[in-house]
Amino acid sequence: MSYRIGFIGAGNMSAAILGGMVKQGVAPERIIASNRSTPKLEALADEYGIHTSTDNHQAAKADVVVLSVKPQMMKDVCLDLAPSLGHKPLIVTVAAGLPMSRYEQWLGADQAIVRCMPNTPSLVGKGASGLFANARVSDLQKSRVEEMMGAVGVTAWVAEESLIDAVIAVAGSAPAYFFLMMEAMIDQGEAMGLDRATARALTLQTAAGAAELAASADVPVDELRRRVMSPGGTTEQAVFSFERDDIRAIVSRAMTCCANRAAEMAKEMGN
Ligand SMILES: NC(=O)c1ccc[n+]([C@@H]2O[C@H](COP(=O)([O-])OP(=O)(O)OC[C@H]3O[C@@H](n4cnc5c(N)ncnc54)[C@H](OP(=O)(O)O)[C@@H]3O)[C@@H](O)[C@H]2O)c1
Repeated sequence: MSYRIGFIGAGNMSAAILGGMVKQGVAPERIIASNRSTPKLEALADEYGIHTSTDNHQAAKADVVVLSVKPQMMKDVCLDLAPSLGHKPLIVTVAAGLPMSRYEQWLGADQAIVRCMPNTPSLVGKGASGLFANARVSDLQKSRVEEMMGAVGVTAWVAEESLIDAVIAVAGSAPAYFFLMMEAMIDQGEAMGLDRATARALTLQTAAGAAELAASADVPVDELRRRVMSPGGTTEQAVFSFERDDIRAIVSRAMTCCANRAAEMAKEMGN
């Protein structure tokens, strides 16, 4: 059955998701996006042929309503939309940080709501999103969310809302860990005599290639690592150096700090 999807807020994240859906064959007539100003709406209508409106209530008539405004705008948007949600659409929020309890308070505890935690690679169709559903969400509605977020990457459901903090540590914030590693490698490549553009190109391709190889291999990542580490060779010298510096403890501490901050922020935003 072809359900309709309304996006509230037509910024980067909405453009990525709805653009991914249209590219995957979802009929643009099924999609409507609303935004408080028109330029982004005109661009999306031109590029993808979707319906647009400057009235959020038009987009809220859909079967799936995606809330994609900044977290600080969310309360006003939700309180304004609440009277228009009598048809009980599935609500999907992609806003960072705000706990489910806030949406239930603003929209009504009888609404089916999914909290989605996407990451920035969603903007290039390579995202990793964690999903948490409240008790009102049906299996059919869950499959719709998977179809939607699957258009911009991989998805994973968590059974407890608190696990969203772990999703943030593993995926939401994690692009920055890999960017940091890339920065360090580019800097060192340059220090070793390569020009910066070459160090950058080789680093980025190696990162993308390693991720693709790991995703397609039928062995775990530690085995892939061992396969690059010929005994007495160059790679093992680098890996031994990382292990002597206790890279696993470094990563564990960083991810714990990240998840703790996510929990703190959810508490602050929940009050
Ligand atoms: N970008 C990411 O990679 C990413 C990752 C994870 C989560 N998120 C979440 O995704 C959400 C959207 O982020 P974004 O990066 O797409 O932000 P964005 O590009 O700034 O988009 C937000 C859009 O909301 C519109 N807007 C603001 N108030 C509105 C209102 N009252 N009614 C209708 N539209 C309104 C803005 O319109 P104007 O153009 O008029 O300002 C803007 O187009 C945020 O909650 C963020 O936490 C984003």
